[in-house]
Amino acid sequence: MCGIFGYIGSRTASAKLVFDGLKNLEYRGYDSWGVAVVSETKLKIFIKKAAGKIGNNNVDDLPDGNIAIGHTRWATHGGVTDTNSHPHSDCTGNISVIHNGIFENYEDFKKKLIQKDHKFISETDTEVISHLVEDFNKKLIFSESVKKAFNLMTGLNAIIAIKQNEKQIVAIRNGSPLVVGFGRGENFLASDASALRPFTKDVYFLEDNEMAILEKNKVRVSNVKTGKIVKFRKQKLNWNVDQGEKGKFPNFMLKEIYEQPRILSEIASTGSGLMEKVAKLIKKSRGSYLVGCGSASYAAMAGTYLFSKVAKRHINFAIGSEFGYHLDFLNIDSLVIPISQSGETIDILESMKKAREQGAKIVSLVNVLGSSLYRMSDEKMLISAGPEKSVASTKALTGMIAHLVLLSFSLDGGVRKGKKVLMDAVDSVKKTLSDKSIKNIKKLAGIIIDSKNIYVIGRGLSYPTALETAMKIKEISYIHAEGLAAGELKHGPLALVAKGTPCIAFLPNDETYGANLAGAMEMKARGGFVIGISFKPHEVFDYYIPVKDAGVATIIPNIVAGQLLAYFLTIKKRLDVDKPRNLAKSVTVK
Ligand code: G6P
Repeated sequence: MCGIFGYIGSRTASAKLVFDGLKNLEYRGYDSWGVAVVSETKLKIFIKKAAGKIGNNNVDDLPDGNIAIGHTRWATHGGVTDTNSHPHSDCTGNISVIHNGIFENYEDFKKKLIQKDHKFISETDTEVISHLVEDFNKKLIFSESVKKAFNLMTGLNAIIAIKQNEKQIVAIRNGSPLVVGFGRGENFLASDASALRPFTKDVYFLEDNEMAILEKNKVRVSNVKTGKIVKFRKQKLNWNVDQGEKGKFPNFMLKEIYEQPRILSEIASTGSGLMEKVAKLIKKSRGSYLVGCGSASYAAMAGTYLFSKVAKRHINFAIGSEFGYHLDFLNIDSLVIPISQSGETIDILESMKKAREQGAKIVSLVNVLGSSLYRMSDEKMLISAGPEKSVASTKALTGMIAHLVLLSFSLDGGVRKGKKVLMDAVDSVKKTLSDKSIKNIKKLAGIIIDSKNIYVIGRGLSYPTALETAMKIKEISYIHAEGLAAGELKHGPLALVAKGTPCIAFLPNDETYGANLAGAMEMKARGGFVIGISFKPHEVFDYYIPVKDAGVATIIPNIVAGQLLAYFLTIKKRLDVDKPRNLAKSVTVK
């Protein structure tokens, strides 16, 4: 987590440039923000930082300067306070450091530095880095001091350091992402390439243990373990500047929800060129696994049902953070398919490293080109959902499922049929997004807004749908919601269904209909307020949300209906839908 942005060049309003750059990275963490700028005229580094979101703040009071760095924080060590916000300085105020990750062994160094009379003002692990660099800089040049400090740190980290009088930015990463952007007479750094979009298309993704020294006209990269110079090659990224903008929408989540029909039909028409190759790899493998975290884990779970139903094939499923505990039996014949929007989720990256050590092949389904997961995979299928900014995943998730629909049909030799099914889903999503449907879902949000608990049930493909809908509701509207396999209702959860408890039942036109309806009836018999999301109405429903049948791909419009309900609950509660509390989009800590 945490967003990092840096600039060195001839522009004098670098603090403002970095501050604006941070706005594109705030999805990575929004507990606090901060900017440091080197002022040449005043011979000093000036810092402005504050707890809370960037919101309507500004950096107009920071002086001009050609070098600036900035940070948005997702707190780990130390509470959410102004003092704990980054950048952090050394005793002299001449050195400034920002950091993404966890400096696991910081306490030992902090004790030693205190004995040497270093003065600490924050509770963070990051401040220890500033003082370590200060200490080493007494004997070593600045970049070597940063390197030495970094090499002592355990954990997965990215750091950026600047010093008054040093016309450079020093950046090093291991685990946490960092991208260098190349301009003319200016260079940039960011923790996500999409933040560089307004400035350059030429980038280099730093590899683990690489250090970049950025100067105005030059970037040098070396390996911090071997000391060797890295001859890197710039990569050109293709993107439109407006892809990451809100446009006419009030927030990113709604914009991204409405982008779904277009993205899904693009996936249906182009698919991934790799689909058939991946299908062959799956067939060849002896044991294959779908792995994801958060919403991507529900896509992975949906994949197991799709593979079974469509391709009559077994595929295993695991949550990223758990996969590491049951991969001892992987070998060179195993195939792992990690699914991730960001391609930076640490639980995925860590477990993929372990899978690789066991010899498994890795074929990723990933949205961010050039991300860590993308680079470490043997084959990569791009989700092609475009930049997703809202913390709660919408279009990336349905994009993942669309690829799994195509893949399952490809396994059965029927990719054409898969595309047709996907186009039916596009049609159904469009209907779910029609004015009439939106009005209906909005009205429902008004009815259940004051609920303390919401239960969501489904079977088969609707089980991951229920989990995803419950997750969306709780993460953005802060209403407790529980997703359940409908068959499990009678093994405990029914005890909590009381008069008026909202119970959402997904009832698509498939083999689960009858049994799922029984679940809805069990809830109704206990006084539950039954909300049916289905292709046809039923008398047991107290509220009905129609979703047009699209065969196995009905899971996609069903998920969209759940997204809209969560969205309107949140809007009605006047909460920040794009940046829910305590979360971040790119989860780079364990
Ligand atoms: C975070 C996000 C979720 C996302 C999950 C996995 O929790 O808020 O929306 O599903 O991470 O992220 P990934 O980038 O690996 O898909």
